[in-house]
Amino acid sequence: MSTPSIENIKHILVIGSGAMGSQIGMVAALAGYRVSVQDIAEDMLAQAKEQLSTRMQANVAKGRMDAEDAEAALGRLAFTTDLAAAAADADFVIEAATERLDIKRQIFEQLGALAPAHAILATNSSTLGSSKVADASGRPEQVCNMHFFNPALVMKCVEVVRHGQTSDATVEATMELARRFGKEPVLINREIPGFVANRLMGAVQKEALALHSAGIASVEDIDTTAKAALGHPMGPFELMDMVGLDVIAFIAEATHAETGNDDDLPHPAIARLVAEGHLGRKSGQGWYTYGK
Ligand code: 3HC
Repeated sequence: MSTPSIENIKHILVIGSGAMGSQIGMVAALAGYRVSVQDIAEDMLAQAKEQLSTRMQANVAKGRMDAEDAEAALGRLAFTTDLAAAAADADFVIEAATERLDIKRQIFEQLGALAPAHAILATNSSTLGSSKVADASGRPEQVCNMHFFNPALVMKCVEVVRHGQTSDATVEATMELARRFGKEPVLINREIPGFVANRLMGAVQKEALALHSAGIASVEDIDTTAKAALGHPMGPFELMDMVGLDVIAFIAEATHAETGNDDDLPHPAIARLVAEGHLGRKSGQGWYTYGK
């Protein structure tokens, strides 16, 4: 095994082309890196490519960047279904696949065999600490969480979470990479369900749900209060809809699995909406109704 270092990082592989994976790939390409976004689904890759291109065009139209820079950044992004080829010369991998432990373990096992010895293998998971996949890779000291926030093109924070065996060199290179992405990395020294940001978000959401279910105030008025009284960019219900109510429920379930505390279970109102297929913005209905 060679020691990972920021200077070795030229090619970044992002696994998963959903909302998070695609925007993380774009962030890396905008920072000047060569990037491969890999997914098993061709249609997801095509959708990601189109959405990112539209976002870059919007940036150009708003005068945020010039057309050549946008084109160059998009040109640094490759979309592929071929994991073996993309991993073969990847120096840093960010896994942003489905939040399922069995799938993630399989990916980390493949990466351990396919990626160069110096490559760092990070997971964007907000719920699964990297210790749960590290052993599958055969290089646990080069595994950590690198947790971005939605929308990743905009949100500045990246949580870098080390597990018991993550090496200092891995942590330093990951923190520095986040800085070179133009982000503000924060270091979390020990795995804890929800890390820091989702715990803070969860506390506000829990209170908002309690106030609403007790009939104290409406969804709209609670959201207005968070924005107009506290300066939050979005109200807690709007934020739940943006993140996805299924994701909110999954975070709660994963937290409950670790803590055993029934207070951490998904709020009944969230469980009900998810059971009805109301997942927030992505399904057109959550706490609010969205147009196409
Ligand atoms: N993707 C990319 N860019 C987006 C975007 C998206 N989905 N939504 C908005 N933007 C961009 C806009 O294009 C605009 O860019 P510009 O400044 O170049 O014009 C900029 O963001 C501001 O957008 P708007 O003017 O349309 O709207 P707002 O000022 O309300 O900002 C927001 C939108 C950035 C989403 C803001 O409301 C916000 O910060 N909300 C809170 C988001 C948050 O808390 N995220 C964390 C969620 S928790 C999480 O992700 C963890 C996970 O584990 C669950």
